[in-house]
Order: sequence, then structure tokens, then C-alpha cells
Amino acid sequence: MSRVSEPASRETLRLIDFYQPITQSLAQVEQILRREMQSDFPAVDAMTRYGFRMGGKRLRPALLLLTAQTLGQVQSAHLVLAAVVEMIHTATLVHDDVLDGADVRRHRPTVNRQWGNRASILLGDYLFSHAFYLAATLDSALACRLIGRATNRVCEGEIRQNDSCGNWELSEDEYYSLIDAKTAELCACCCHLGAHYAGAGEDESRRWAHYGRLIGMAFQIVDDILDMEGREAETGKSLGTDLAQQKPTLPTIHAVQQTPPDDRPTLLELLKTGANARGALEPYFLKHGSLEYARQKALAFAQQATQIAASAPVSEAQRVLEQLPLALLKRTG
Ligand code: IPE
Ligand code: IPE
Ligand code: MG
Ligand code: MG
Repeated sequence: MSRVSEPASRETLRLIDFYQPITQSLAQVEQILRREMQSDFPAVDAMTRYGFRMGGKRLRPALLLLTAQTLGQVQSAHLVLAAVVEMIHTATLVHDDVLDGADVRRHRPTVNRQWGNRASILLGDYLFSHAFYLAATLDSALACRLIGRATNRVCEGEIRQNDSCGNWELSEDEYYSLIDAKTAELCACCCHLGAHYAGAGEDESRRWAHYGRLIGMAFQIVDDILDMEGREAETGKSLGTDLAQQKPTLPTIHAVQQTPPDDRPTLLELLKTGANARGALEPYFLKHGSLEYARQKALAFAQQATQIAASAPVSEAQRVLEQLPLALLKRTG
């Protein structure tokens, strides 16, 4: 399968550095993913392999494993759960690309581009159900409960977002609530699982879940900024899809709110033109400092996450969790 573009080595290298304390565990997670995603049926096998060979940053497994290592030791349950959360994440991406009509993901043609929307919906379902099956192989029911609840909220978030398309009046708080559901919830779940299965008590697990939630919020705001000003060669995915789907995100919400009522109709007409508006929106963003505003909000979430990690006993993994939130603000992919 030919590559659409080469991944930005800067990004890959930097994350590899952050993943240093969990390199071996991550390699074991890859093995589990490869093993679990095999099917005797060639049509299924080709699609599942494609989904995972596509790679990706593996941020959610990394959050789970780093939290585990910060609070204790990585156990075999953590490895299974790290594979589970990556399957769920990939399922949401496969479905999301159908919703967004995206052509490129993880530097390759999307599953919908390669096999069509019908096959993508089925693959997403296959990944979700396999993830739940795998989580249920663990002795305790807690993992299934947490993962089930988190996935449910992610889907709820995607439904709510779908419903909010074209609503440029969406408030900033409604936006935060939406990205909390569709993105931050799964990151929170990862850290919760990492902490719990490392022997942390309920309060401590919840504190780390909050860390995951904050990093997830910052991550999605940065993603929304990248959708406006990023480069596809670096992100490795279709950009401008938020505009194409008329999704209100923090930069656009800010620009609309800051534009005086007299000028607003012109801006709203521009937004309606979809992805083509990307360049034309620049003067509005510049005038009102909307991208900078979004960056500051992402920074505030990241700083809160950093504070939580900073209060944990010092270790290699803990230091990574302390530095990762701010480092992710600089990501270009
Ligand atoms: C993309 O997530 C979806 C968002 C929540 C913004 P990632 O940027 O972590 O995707 P991969 O796994 O690296 O491809
Ligand atoms: C994140 O939103 C999607 C999910 C949480 C499934 P986006 O639509 O911004 O993600 P990308 O930009 O396509 O990766
Ligand atoms: Mg998308
Ligand atoms: Mg996006």
C-alpha cells in the first residue's frame, strides 16, 4: 500500500523519547494487537491489519502504561488494557473518518477511501466488539465497566457533535463539554485503568483519571487548531474537515463571538463555504487572536495536568507524565 505522505520525523522522534520508560511494554502491546487482530477470513484480516499497521501515535496505550509505571509496575492486565483502548480509539477514528468524509489517516488512505463507508462501519463495530471481548478476559469487571462507560460517552460526544454541525452559536462551555466526551473521556479512562491496576486506591485513581481528562482536553484543542493551520504532510490526516462538516471548534467559536454583529453575516457566509474557508478565515483569526486564544486555553488545561503529575513521587515515568502535557501543545502531527 503506497504512503500518501511521510510522517514528520520530528514528531515521531519526540514521542519515542517520551515513551522511553515504557518501550518494552509498548512493544508487547503491539504484539497483542497483531495477535488479536488476526482473522481466518481474508476480507476481515486485510482490513484489521490495515487499521493497525497504519500506526498512529499510540498515545492512549502510552498514557495507560506511564500511569501504571508511575504508581507501581506494569502488569499483564495493563498490556491487555492498553491494546483494548487502542482498539477502541482506532474504531472511533474509522467511524469518524466516515462522518468527516476524510481521505487520509495516519499517512495512508482512510479505510473508507480504501474499502468504502459500508465496510468502514462494519470494521469499526468489529474493533469495538473485539475490544470489549478482550477486556472481559480479565478477572475483574471494573475494566469492562470503565471502558464501557467511557466508550459510551465518546459515542454520545460524536452524536452531540454531529447534532451541533452548523451551529455557530455553540457556546465555549458547550464546546468543552463536547470535547470532554468525545476525546478527554477515553484519555481519562486510560489513566484510571493504569492507576487502578497498579494498585492505586479509588481517590488516587480518580486523580489520575482527571490528569488524563485534562491532557485529553488540551490534545483536542490543539487538534482543532491543527485542523485550521496544520499541514497534512505532518498530521498525516485530512485537514479542514471541521470546516467541511461545519463543526464549530474553539477558534471559530471565538472568532464568531468576537466579530461585531454587523460583520457577522459575512463571516457566517464564509464559514458556510467549508474547507475552502481555511485561508480566507485567516484575517478573522488574526484580528481577534482566535488561534492564540485557543492555544492559551490548551495551555491552561495542560498546566493543570502537569501540576497533578508533579505532585507524584519522582521517577522516570512520572517525569514524562509531567512534561508530556506541555510537549503535546507543540505537536504538529
Ligand atoms: C486523533 O487522535 C483523534 C483525536 C482525538 C484528535 P490521535 O492524534 O491520537 O490519532 P493517532 O492514533 O495518532 O492516529
Ligand atoms: C476526534 O475528533 C474524533 C474522535 C474522538 C473519534 P476529530 O474529528 O477532530 O479527529 P480527527 O481530526 O479526525 O483525527
Ligand atoms: Mg475527524
Ligand atoms: Mg480533528
